Amino acid sequence: MERTCLAVILAAGDSTRMKSSKSKVLHPVAGRPMIAHVVEAVASAGISSVALVVGRDAEEVAKAASIGGVGIESCLQKERLGTGHAVLAARDAIAKGYDDILVTYGDVPLQTDGPLKAARQGLADGSDIVVIGFHTDRPTGYGRLLVKDGELIAIREEKDATDAERTVTWCNSGLMAINGRKALDLLSRIGNANAKGEFYLTDLVEIARSLGGRVTAVDAPEIEMTGCNTRAELAVIERFWQERRRHQMMLSGVTMIAPETVFLAYDTVIGQDALIEPNVVFGPGAVIDSGAVIHAFSHIEGAHVSQGATVGPFARLRPGADLGNGAKVGNFCEVKNGRIGEGAKVNHLTYIGDAVIGAGSNIGAGTITCNYDGVNKSETVIGENAFIGSNSSLVAPVTIGDGAYIASGSVITVNVPAGALALGRARQEIKPGRATLLRERALAIKAAKKAKS
Ligand code: UD1
Ligand code: CA
Repeated sequence: MERTCLAVILAAGDSTRMKSSKSKVLHPVAGRPMIAHVVEAVASAGISSVALVVGRDAEEVAKAASIGGVGIESCLQKERLGTGHAVLAARDAIAKGYDDILVTYGDVPLQTDGPLKAARQGLADGSDIVVIGFHTDRPTGYGRLLVKDGELIAIREEKDATDAERTVTWCNSGLMAINGRKALDLLSRIGNANAKGEFYLTDLVEIARSLGGRVTAVDAPEIEMTGCNTRAELAVIERFWQERRRHQMMLSGVTMIAPETVFLAYDTVIGQDALIEPNVVFGPGAVIDSGAVIHAFSHIEGAHVSQGATVGPFARLRPGADLGNGAKVGNFCEVKNGRIGEGAKVNHLTYIGDAVIGAGSNIGAGTITCNYDGVNKSETVIGENAFIGSNSSLVAPVTIGDGAYIASGSVITVNVPAGALALGRARQEIKPGRATLLRERALAIKAAKKAKS
C-alpha cells in the first residue's frame, strides 16, 4: 500500500532582510510566488496534504500556495521560537496520522521532487529521521552534519559548533523527513538549551538516536537548496531557475541562439524546432507551437503562437493574442485579445486589440483597431483575404467583409461588405504652381525682417 505523507512547509520567517511589506514567500520567481514552486515540488513527490506554517500574510500565502490538487491547511506560528517550534505549529495536522512527515522550507524555491522522494524512501526503508544534506565550499551559517563511524550522529548549528566542527562542509539543508507515527513524540522532546535559545528541529537527530531509532541522510544538489533571504539572493535564485529551465527546453528541441538573454515564465510551453532569438521575454501563459520563430526583443504573455508563425522583432503579444498557422506579427506591433488567422500578416507598427482577423488578410503598416471609447471595449472583425491599407483606423465595433479593400489613411466607422472598396479620407486636390508662390512669399517676409534689424 502507498505511504501517506504530510508536508509541513515552514514559512513563518519575518522576512526582515527582504525589506518588504510582504512575506518573502510571496515574492515571485519566474512569474509566480516562491511558495507555489515549493508546493509544486511537494506535489511532484506524490504528496497531496500540506500544512503551511505562517506568521504573517496568512491568507495571501495560503492563496499563493494553492496550485490545485493539493490540500492546504494554514497553521499560525504566533511566536517565532525556532524550527522545532514551527513544525509543532502543525501539531493538529500531524496528529491526523501520516506514515511520513516531510518538513520543507517555503523560501527554498529551487527544490525538486528528487531529494524529497529520496528522503521519503529513507523512511520507507526504516529510518525514523532522514536529513536532506548538501555539500558546499561555503558552509558558513549552516548547520553541519556530524558523522561518526559512518553514521550521522548530530547536526550542529554554526553558533553552537566548535572550530573543528565548523570545518565540516556537509551541511543541513533544513529539509527533513520524519517517521509520522513517532513525529509528535520526538518533536515534544526538543528543548531550547542552545546558543540561540531556540527550539531546534535539528535536535531530532540526537533525540531519535537516543531512543534507538535509525537516522540517515540523503544528498541534494547545493543549488536546489539555495534559500532566499534578500533581494540579491532572490535574483540569484531567478538566474538559477532560468538557467535550469532553458537547459531543459533546449534538450527538448527548442533552439535558443543566446539562451542567457531569454527569460521564461514558470508555465512557458515551447514546442520542438521553435526558434527563439536573443532578448525575448515570456510572461505567464505563453504557448509557442513547434516550428514557430520568435525574433529578437519580443515580449509574449498569455498568448498562443501556432506552428510556423513568426513574431517580431520588437513585437508584443499580450493576453488573448492567438496567431494561426504561418501568421506573421512583425516589428513594433502589439496584439491583445486578437486572433490572427492562418497566414495573415500584421507586419509593421500596428495595434490589434479585441479583433478577429481572417486567414490570408494583410494588415498594412500603422493600422489601429480603435477598440476603446474611454468606457467600453468593442470588437473589430475582419474577414478572410481582406486588405487594410496603411495608416488606417478601424473604429470598433466594425466589420470588414472577406476580400474587402480599405484605402490607405482611412478612418472606418461603418461596416464594409465583402469585396467592397472603402475610402474614409479627404479627396486629394492639386493646385498647380501654388508651392512656388508660397515659397516666394515666405522668402520675401524673411528678407523684410532682415532689412529692419
Ligand atoms: C536552519 C537549520 C540549519 C540549516 C539552515 C538551512 C535549525 C535549527 N537550523 O537554520 O541547520 O543549515 O536552516 O537554511 O533548524 N522558521 C519558521 N519559524 C521559526 C523559525 C524558522 O517558520 O520559528 C522558518 C523560516 O521562515 C525559514 C526556515 O524555517 O524558512 C529556517 O529558519 P532560519 O531561521 O532561516 O534557520 P537557520 O538558522 O538558517
Ligand atoms: Ca536561513
